[in-house]
Amino acid sequence: MTSIATPSQDIEFATRDRISSLQLERLQWSLLHAYTNVPHYRKAFDDAGVHPSDLKDLSDLAKFPFTAKADLRANYPFGMFAVPQEKVSRIHASSGTTGRPTVVGYTTGDLNNWADLVARSLRAGGVKPSDKVHVAYGYGLFTGGLGAHYGAERLGCTVIPMSGGMTDRQIQLIEDFEPDAIMVTPSYMLTIVDAMIKKGIDPAKTSLRTGVFGAEPWTEEMRTELEKQLNMDAVDIYGLSEVMGPGVAMECVETKDGLHIWEDHFYPEIIDPVTGEVLPDGEEGELVFTSLTKEAMPIIRYRTHDLTRLLPGTARSVRRMQKVTGRTDDMIILRGVNLFPTQIEELILTVTGLAPQFQCILDRPGRMDELTVRVEARPDASATDHPRSATELQKLVKNRIGVSVKVDVVAPGALERSIGKARRLIDNRSAL
Ligand code: DLL
Repeated sequence: MTSIATPSQDIEFATRDRISSLQLERLQWSLLHAYTNVPHYRKAFDDAGVHPSDLKDLSDLAKFPFTAKADLRANYPFGMFAVPQEKVSRIHASSGTTGRPTVVGYTTGDLNNWADLVARSLRAGGVKPSDKVHVAYGYGLFTGGLGAHYGAERLGCTVIPMSGGMTDRQIQLIEDFEPDAIMVTPSYMLTIVDAMIKKGIDPAKTSLRTGVFGAEPWTEEMRTELEKQLNMDAVDIYGLSEVMGPGVAMECVETKDGLHIWEDHFYPEIIDPVTGEVLPDGEEGELVFTSLTKEAMPIIRYRTHDLTRLLPGTARSVRRMQKVTGRTDDMIILRGVNLFPTQIEELILTVTGLAPQFQCILDRPGRMDELTVRVEARPDASATDHPRSATELQKLVKNRIGVSVKVDVVAPGALERSIGKARRLIDNRSAL
């Protein structure tokens, strides 16, 4: 195995031609690497009647079969690895809500690229080598903590490896160590903010100036909320274990207009989630990634289930993906209307008395599905205002999304707090 990766930062500003020719060369390598070393890919390509040598142009990738989470599960634990175990330096796994976890592996070369890409992401997000970075993504099998950690170290930062949970401790260390940046899920940031306010600490007065938020969908309205509450720049970082971990795409602080995809390492496509057809840039669909440099576990046309669209580069010349609307699995189909928890979040944040702590609860009391939005009131809202806030949200959902929902405004602190990824959707229908 010879590595194809030569980490380089100037690619962020390279011409489109240069990016495409690098992608073509790396894609040819990656397909051949997968085909030669992973029995799953050899069989899948053979079954589809394609060979890596059929890729003459980037668009030829559409001829190759998709890879799904089920393929990773079927090859549990190490069947998707393309290198012998002694070349695998680290393993991560996603817990998965059902069944076997998804296992991913990295060579030292992969870990080196990952650290470079997270460092690149942090720099784009406005973090400086002289900064102290508080990492509150969970450490362990989840890619968030260690991925963030080594990237921040690579940039030259002072890293505070706090991990998730122990909210009082988080606050104490933020007060005492005075970090410049925090890396955390946006929902856990809100938990920390609430706890600070309870302790009489003004979140806007902490040392934090940059929040690098990801691992779950969050909206522009949530950005405004976090930036206001914390007096910071809130930027979006995207990634998934199967493709690498955090740092696949990153928002630039100077534009905050979606996430630049590090296209020298990952080739993105948008497909129609139903037909699998590749859609042109600008159209919304399911994001699919092919790794271009990964050694231990190349991934070919991986269906992420994340919905977004591809847009031209702005602050960097690589393409952007719009902030993720949600996952196809989180889409609620309510009496024929599709909606996502992010749409509810957007609307909640326009109602003065409501806080961004909410859950969407699906029930089927009779023959029809019902959605209840359970949302907390703001601590400064008086209880007599709750019915008015509920009616306002109900009307907004009806007018903007076109469905009737129930709204249940609960007291501040009544909903379970997230320490990692928030669980926004509770589907009680399958229990019936
Ligand atoms: O969540 C990796 C990560 C860690 C990304 C820390 C950013 C920060 P997984 O646990 O494999 O990996 O989950 C991947 O999380 O397919 C998306 O559905 C969702 N996701 C990740 N980042 C974002 C984001 C990590 N910025 C899954 N916006 C992905 C929306 C995100 N969704």
